[in-house]
Amino acid sequence: MEFENLLYDVKDRIATVTVNRPDKANALNAQTMLDIMAAFSQLKINPDVRVGILTGSGEKFFVAGADINELKELNANSGAAFSQHGQDIFSLIENLGKPVIAAVNGFALGGGCELAMACSMRIASNNAKFGQPEVGLGIIPGYGGTQRLPRLVGKGRALELILTGDMITADEAYRIGLVNKVVEQRELMPTAETIAQKIIANAPLAIKYGLEAVNHGLEVSQAEGLRLEAELFGLSCATEDMKTGMAAFLEKKGKAVFKGK
Ligand code: COA
Repeated sequence: MEFENLLYDVKDRIATVTVNRPDKANALNAQTMLDIMAAFSQLKINPDVRVGILTGSGEKFFVAGADINELKELNANSGAAFSQHGQDIFSLIENLGKPVIAAVNGFALGGGCELAMACSMRIASNNAKFGQPEVGLGIIPGYGGTQRLPRLVGKGRALELILTGDMITADEAYRIGLVNKVVEQRELMPTAETIAQKIIANAPLAIKYGLEAVNHGLEVSQAEGLRLEAELFGLSCATEDMKTGMAAFLEKKGKAVFKGK
């Protein structure tokens, strides 16, 4: 697939989506947001793709935020619509039914940090930097940052980042639980691909239900989340893959080959 500001490549059942505006720090302008929406819509329905990896082009920027040239034009009405539009696109990524790994290769600021947080997990190169600098521009995070950041790192740390606008290193992001792992830049994509392949080796429907149980479970009471878990657990018990997986273990046949049925 061809996009104006994205590279999209499918190999070994992994779709790699690369935000590609290198002369503008991979900042998210309107076209790039549309490209992201189209790429992930495609990724969602492509049966050959099991996992997405999202990264930025080059070795310096993941995404340095929404495009400030466009932000400066917003008013109360268009600002709310802008925020809602971005939230919808990032929610599509979060609730894709397939895992998306953010491979954060450099600055992930503002909308870039929010984009990484919409992914299922985050691997960072050791030069990566994270932050929500919006308050320094007179705005607040509008692509989900005020909601996803406290869920990932807790309220106090989220408020510190959102209210100071401070940038933190990859190691600090790891310490507070914003990223899962920090690796050398050259190890970033191989690490993300290794994790993707581990996921791909598991039962596709179990992956989908696990994602759904965690994502939706975090939005509702624990009692409701537990009910959802039981329902999804029941659905997983009705799959052919459940029989295949358990038979492979009990009959000592090694790792099961799943069909996604
Ligand atoms: N929107 C639009 N353009 C951006 C941008 C953004 N969010 N972030 C960077 N750019 C552009 C710069 O204007 C510059 O373009 P130019 O060469 O045409 O002047 C280019 O990308 C490279 O950025 P530059 O600032 O020169 O790189 P740097 O290494 O000196 O600094 C950053 C890197 C990330 C620290 C700095 O670009 C920055 O602070 N960006 C804004 C981050 C931000 O506030 N994001 C939140 C927006 S809500």
